[in-house]
Amino acid sequence: MAKAKQNTFAAIDVGTSKICTVIANAGEGDALRVIGVGVAPSRGLQKGAIIDIDAAKEAIKESITESERVSGLRLESAYVGVSGKHIQSLNNRGVVAISRTDQKVASSDLERVLESARNVTMPSDRSLLHVIPKTFSLDGQVGIKEPVGMHGFRLDVETHIVTAATASVQNLIKSVRGAGVEIEDLILSSLSSSEAVLTPEEKEDGIIIADIGAGTTDVAIFRNGSVWHTTVIPVGGNQITRDISIGLGVPIEVAEQMKKKYGKATPVNGAGDSFQDEKGNGHSVATKDLCEIIRARLEELLRLVIIELPQSDYNAVVPAGLVLTGGTANLPGIDKLGQELFRLPVRIGVPSNMYGLTDNLYNPMYSTSIGLMMWGAMHESGEGLPPASMKNTVHDAVVRPLLHAKRLFKR
Ligand SMILES: Nc1ncnc2c1ncn2[C@@H]1O[C@H](COP(=O)(O)OP(=O)(O)OP(=O)(O)O)[C@@H](O)[C@H]1O
Ligand SMILES: [Mg+2]
Repeated sequence: MAKAKQNTFAAIDVGTSKICTVIANAGEGDALRVIGVGVAPSRGLQKGAIIDIDAAKEAIKESITESERVSGLRLESAYVGVSGKHIQSLNNRGVVAISRTDQKVASSDLERVLESARNVTMPSDRSLLHVIPKTFSLDGQVGIKEPVGMHGFRLDVETHIVTAATASVQNLIKSVRGAGVEIEDLILSSLSSSEAVLTPEEKEDGIIIADIGAGTTDVAIFRNGSVWHTTVIPVGGNQITRDISIGLGVPIEVAEQMKKKYGKATPVNGAGDSFQDEKGNGHSVATKDLCEIIRARLEELLRLVIIELPQSDYNAVVPAGLVLTGGTANLPGIDKLGQELFRLPVRIGVPSNMYGLTDNLYNPMYSTSIGLMMWGAMHESGEGLPPASMKNTVHDAVVRPLLHAKRLFKR
């Protein structure tokens, strides 16, 4: 099989319910030309984190092999998403003096100030995943987005820092490498999804995104064009399925089928329709009962998302509203439910801006994979790397000792 060419890159979304590998090249304009996709049922994961390396490795391999078969290319490395409740975030400041005689900020000063921000005391069992500049200030003048070339004595940066449990990241690295693929970069899942479904204008205005998968809900808040807050809630579609299973007294697999086939987040009035229990035991299940269970759990989940906003005047913080993505965003009426609950504009985020083998990819459950590709495209073009990346809304200015140290070894 041919090796992947230079401008070809790949992403692997290791989700709780499915693994998705996408291979693409930078296509026309800023669109992606998708040339291979492989989706396999996930194994060895719980709530977004790997609990069984061997099982996960096999599932990842299956998805990679399928994407290779479709594209006719051999995959060497990929951008990989990270999630799980071990993820934590904090905000930190950095400061440096501009000591050159002309007092003009150079890109090396940006690197230095980020270096200073990244200097947080962390327990030894945690690793840095991202250090994202939010805003700069120069001699006390706040809100500067692009300080290079400006004059001043003192440069401050406010950053959003994402950390992960070292052991969890190591398990992910091990599983992907075990499947025969090197990791190009590790990216927080919520930031990947954001790349796929949010517009720069929305990020500028203020927006909250929730990627509701099977095991986790990955939340990110953007304000003034940059990441303002991120979190991972260890609840997702699996909990809805479990509630249905318990509430209606059916096995998990049956509950999952019912949810996908008949489930809605819209209220069902009156006695409503009913359908036959898929177990075939003659049971008739009222759609109303099913949908009430779904609505109750979703409402609880959406409240956990919105509570991440710093104040109850949601419109003031995120005027662009709430974007729902991830597989669970397929539940009809979930956007309406969000609107009713929070009086905010709510829309479903579906990846776009791609062509080629995209048949099934126009679904919110592929936001993370496509977002990882967009992140990849940004980096491959050189744009995503500091200091050039300072113009972008999401930038990654971190050296990941874990990943880089491991790269010294042969697979
Ligand atoms: N049509 C649908 N209606 C309702 N739920 C759906 C539908 N399609 C998928 N889901 C749910 O979406 C979830 C899977 O979403 P997704 O593929 O985004 O998760 P994942 O990435 O594997 O998991 P995670 O991100 O939590 O690690 C499952 O709980 C599934 O039941
Ligand atoms: Mg996911």
